[in-house]
Amino acid sequence: MAAAQVSRTPSLLPLLLLLLLLSLFCASAGPTAPTARRRSAVHKHLRRLNKPALKSIESPDGDTIDCIHLSRQPAFDHPLLQNHTIQMRPTFHPEGLYEEKKVAASGGDGRMAQLWHASGEKCPDDTIPVRRTKREDVLRATSPKRFGRKKHRASPRPRSADPDLINQNGHQHAIAYVEGDKFYGAKATINVWEPRIQQANEFSLSQIWVLGGSFGEDLNSIEVGWQVSPDLYGDNNTRLFTYWTSDAYQATGCYNLLCSGFIQVNSEVAMGASIFPVSGYGGSQYDISILIWKDPKEGNWWMQFGKDYVLGYWPSFLFSYLTDSASMIEWGGEVVNSQEGGEHTSTQMGSGHFPEEGFSKASYFRNIQVVDESNNLRSPKDLGTFTEQSNCYDVQTGSNSDWGSYIYFGGPGKSSNCP
Ligand SMILES: *[C@@H]1O[C@H](CO)[C@@H](O)[C@H](O)[C@H]1NC(C)=O
Ligand SMILES: *[C@@H]1O[C@H](CO)[C@@H](O)[C@H](O)[C@H]1NC(C)=O
Repeated sequence: MAAAQVSRTPSLLPLLLLLLLLSLFCASAGPTAPTARRRSAVHKHLRRLNKPALKSIESPDGDTIDCIHLSRQPAFDHPLLQNHTIQMRPTFHPEGLYEEKKVAASGGDGRMAQLWHASGEKCPDDTIPVRRTKREDVLRATSPKRFGRKKHRASPRPRSADPDLINQNGHQHAIAYVEGDKFYGAKATINVWEPRIQQANEFSLSQIWVLGGSFGEDLNSIEVGWQVSPDLYGDNNTRLFTYWTSDAYQATGCYNLLCSGFIQVNSEVAMGASIFPVSGYGGSQYDISILIWKDPKEGNWWMQFGKDYVLGYWPSFLFSYLTDSASMIEWGGEVVNSQEGGEHTSTQMGSGHFPEEGFSKASYFRNIQVVDESNNLRSPKDLGTFTEQSNCYDVQTGSNSDWGSYIYFGGPGKSSNCP
C-alpha cells in the first residue's frame, strides 16, 4: 500500500506545480496588476464617488475628508432626486425615555467622537464631510460595481427553521429583535470596541437594523452602527457606518455615501470615519447613541448620531415596505466567518468576550427603544434573541431602571468551545 502511494506521487508533481504556478499568477495578476479595462472602470467609479471638494482635511488615520457642497453630494446622481429639495431638518423628532448621560458617552455628550476632528479643522457651512475613496479601496473589491455593497442576502433570520439558511456565506449574528408590530424607528446606545479581524475579507459590526418585508428577495433594510472592515476601509479602525437596501442586498443600496440614496445635511460627522476613543477590556467604556426614525409628515427615514448630530435621511421612495413602516427591528452584532466548513475564524464580535462577563468586559446595547405607532419612543415589549452558534457568539437580554432594555452580546469566535 505504502509503496504504491509513493510511486504514484511523482507523476502528480508536475501537475501540482503547474496548478501552484497558475494560482500564484492569478493572485498576483489580481490587485497588483489590474488590466486596462479594470483600471478605467476603477477610475470612472472614483470620479463618481469623489465629488469636487471645497476643502479637504487630512485625518491622523490616513483618511482624507472632503468637504462637498450639499447640492453636489452623491445622492443627487439618483435620477429620481434630480429636482429634490433638501430638507435641512426633520419636521418631527421622537422624544426618549432616557436622556443621554453627560459622562462616558463619546457620541452622546456632545463631545466629538471622530478622529478627523483632531486637527481642529472643520467643514464650511453648506458642505458635508465625505471620506474620500482611494484607488486601493476600490481595487480590493471583486469589481468596482460591488465596492461598498454587502454580499447578497447577508441578513439575519430570527425564524431560522430552515437549516439551509443558517450561516449563509459565513455571516453570523448575535442579536435581539422585536417583530409583529408596526415600527417607525429605533434607538440604542451602542458600546464601542475594536474587535480583532482574522482575515481582511471578514468584518465585525455592531448595529441597529430597521427591517421591512420578509427575508426574501425584496427585504428593505436600514442599518446604522460601527464596524471594522479591512476590505472596505483598508485598516482595522472602528468606523461609524450606515447601510441600506430595498432588494435584500442585490442591486440597490450600499454603505455610507458609496452610492446615491442617503441625503446628508450635517457638516460635522462623516460616515465611514473612525470613531475615537474605543473601550478597553476592564477599562474606560465608550458608547454612541443612534436614533433612526420616520418623519411622519414627509415619510423620510432620518438618522441621528449622539445627542446633537442629525446626519440626514433616506428618502421614502428608495423603499417599498419601509415607505409605510418597519415590521422588525434588530440590535446586535454580525461577523463574517470566511472559513465556513473549516476551523472557525478567530474574528471577534463586540469586545471579543461572552455576555456573561458583563460590564466593561462584554459589549452592550443599552436603552434599547422603538418608535411606536404614536411616534413615541418606548422600550420594546418582547425582545427575542437569535444566534447561529451560541458557542462562538452569544447574546443575553436584561432590563433595569438605568439602562432600560439592554443586551450583552459577542464572543471570541474560535475557542475550545467553538472549534
Ligand atoms: C425635473 O424637472 C424637470 C423640469 O421641470 C422635468 O422635466 C423632469 O421630468 C423632472 N424630473 C423628475 C425626476 O421629476
Ligand atoms: C489588521 O489586523 C490583523 C490581525 O488582527 C493584522 O494581521 C493586519 O495586519 C491588520 N491590518 C492593518 C491594515 O493594520
